[in-house]
Amino acid sequence: MAGNPTAVIYNLVGARPNFMKMAPVVAELKRRGVPQKLVHTGQHYDAAMSQVFFEELGMPEPDLYLGVGSGTHAQQTARVMMAVAEACERERPALVVVSGDVNSTVAGAMAAAKMGIPVAHVEAGLRSFDRSMPEELNRIVTDHLSELLFTTEESGNRNLRHEGIPEEKIHFVGNCMVDSLRRHEKAAFRKQPWATFGVEEGRYALVTLHRPSNVDDDRNLIELMRQVMHIADRIPILFPVHPRTRQRLAKLGLCWPKTLQLLEPLPYITFLGLMARASFVVTDSGGIQEETTALQVPCLTLRTNTERPSTVELGTNQLLGDDLDGAGQIVEQIVRGQWKRGSIPPLWDGHAARRVVDRIEAFLEIEAFLAEDVKLLAAAAR
Ligand code: UD1
Repeated sequence: MAGNPTAVIYNLVGARPNFMKMAPVVAELKRRGVPQKLVHTGQHYDAAMSQVFFEELGMPEPDLYLGVGSGTHAQQTARVMMAVAEACERERPALVVVSGDVNSTVAGAMAAAKMGIPVAHVEAGLRSFDRSMPEELNRIVTDHLSELLFTTEESGNRNLRHEGIPEEKIHFVGNCMVDSLRRHEKAAFRKQPWATFGVEEGRYALVTLHRPSNVDDDRNLIELMRQVMHIADRIPILFPVHPRTRQRLAKLGLCWPKTLQLLEPLPYITFLGLMARASFVVTDSGGIQEETTALQVPCLTLRTNTERPSTVELGTNQLLGDDLDGAGQIVEQIVRGQWKRGSIPPLWDGHAARRVVDRIEAFLEIEAFLAEDVKLLAAAAR
């Protein structure tokens, strides 16, 4: 791959779940003095979905803000591709680092790879084997365009090998999101965010819901909310609502019991504190399945599959699938303290970003060496 080994690294972020994965990588590159730029696509643009995360995670202001905003998948992906390609054209970065599985991830990877600029993917190899999920398509395409694939769990290594990705591109580094979690958990406890919402430590459930398959269909959403209200009969619930879900709920005009608090999207440290001291979490998010495993807090996932099987096999997660009626019994078990405590998956130790940057530096050194070689050969041929 013909990169520019003397140039800067682009770290690309776009949506909320990217920020906690990239913050530790950005910090580690900075610590080592590696030239880098932070590029924000603007997929998430509300202050509550973006800016507050930058502040709390200690990320610098983006060097480039591409302002792509919302739209259909095609529009969003195309706008990110065009804007990233323009930036790459001007500056020719040595490497573009992307993370996770959102539209900005795949679009950034496509723009760079088509220009012959190498791509590194943080959180590679995860597969739900459900191609109706937009994120699954984003993961597959991004992985197959990347030169450096940083995996978080053993299933990721297996999936990539099975898809024919060469072994030397796969780097099992652990989970960068857990680096952020370990770095900020003390501040999160100190904040005691549960008190702000009038609930007792350890005596509330936390709910999040935003996946299109759950919230974009009225019947599904009504059924899920019925279950959530059922749980609220047993234990107070805090439910920070994603903008997508808020729009859908507004149309339904449902009424909630007092024990179910619908909140605005929460900042990272507040949410982390709430998660850490919840009796249990109910979610359809990918990242929260991992964070609850790292915190050893019970997690019930409102999906039939997960691309993060280690959270179920080793961690505290259980897929609720379609068996929503079984939820009541599970909640009883949890409240009585009868739930697996789980173990922390290998390399979720708070030091993943260090391993990522070790591999990036080694990769760039080889690129520089190859580029030098090409120059010498060209000179000899003259
Ligand atoms: C995206 C990711 C999803 C991730 C989620 C986390 C894709 C395909 N999906 O989904 O994997 O779990 O982020 O939040 O990339 N909106 C706002 N303000 C914002 C951003 C969005 O109001 O700052 C509203 C807009 O109406 C928008 C809708 O939310 O149309 C959905 O946003 P979008 O970025 O398309 O996808 P998410 O559902 O956030």
